[in-house]
Amino acid sequence: MAQRIGALGNVALKDGRSVVIRNLRETDWDALATFGQSLPKNDLLYLEDDFSHPELITRLANAAHAENWCQLVATTKTGTIVGYTAAQRMPGWSNHVANIRLIVQPEYRRSGLGMQLAHAIVEEARDMGATKVTVDMLAALNAGQAIFSRLGFAVEGQLARHAIDRDGNLHDIVIMSAFVRV
Ligand SMILES: CC(C)(COP(=O)(O)OP(=O)(O)OC[C@H]1O[C@@H](n2cnc3c(N)ncnc32)[C@H](O)[C@@H]1OP(=O)(O)O)[C@@H](O)C(=O)NCCC(=O)NCCS
Repeated sequence: MAQRIGALGNVALKDGRSVVIRNLRETDWDALATFGQSLPKNDLLYLEDDFSHPELITRLANAAHAENWCQLVATTKTGTIVGYTAAQRMPGWSNHVANIRLIVQPEYRRSGLGMQLAHAIVEEARDMGATKVTVDMLAALNAGQAIFSRLGFAVEGQLARHAIDRDGNLHDIVIMSAFVRV
């Protein structure tokens, strides 16, 4: 395991590297765009959000201070963004639910960063007042399911051919959830 779990600030990873986990800032546009461009084709193909698209980067950066939306990034000493996670409170009768996103830059995978970010964003979701957290991902993405299972999430459902990738192929998605203490 990495040395420290579930908080913002400096985090030592399992491979000896360290990153800072902090809130996304409006001024992070360039760093976030570079992060998006660094993701492999498969991620860009299968992720719900298209991080290679400048409009998405603008929407995320502009929402840095949005109510009901917490966005965290992991940065290196040089300010490069190597991980992104977000929790967004749902509208209407599901406003006690926060939906989570999580992506780690490939060169930083398998060093515990995904787990650290996931833990941190669940804490942030709880601080925003959410009592239920959900995450949805392609059924084929084992890594994300492993992380959220470890954090106590359970599979709540699977939707057949519910996602269409950027090549036009259909995929099943898995919805995982957990109830959190306020
Ligand atoms: C999912 C993702 C965030 C994991 O990031 P990561 O930094 O590699 O995760 P960690 O190093 O904390 O791994 C935690 C555990 O997840 C599991 N895991 C991670 N990568 C895995 C893989 N490729 N295959 C199988 N299990 C994997 C392992 O159990 C791992 O623990 P271990 O290294 O002690 O065996 C990263 O692979 C990613 O960004 N994927 C694309 C986006 C995505 O699928 N997001 C999840 C849904 S929102």
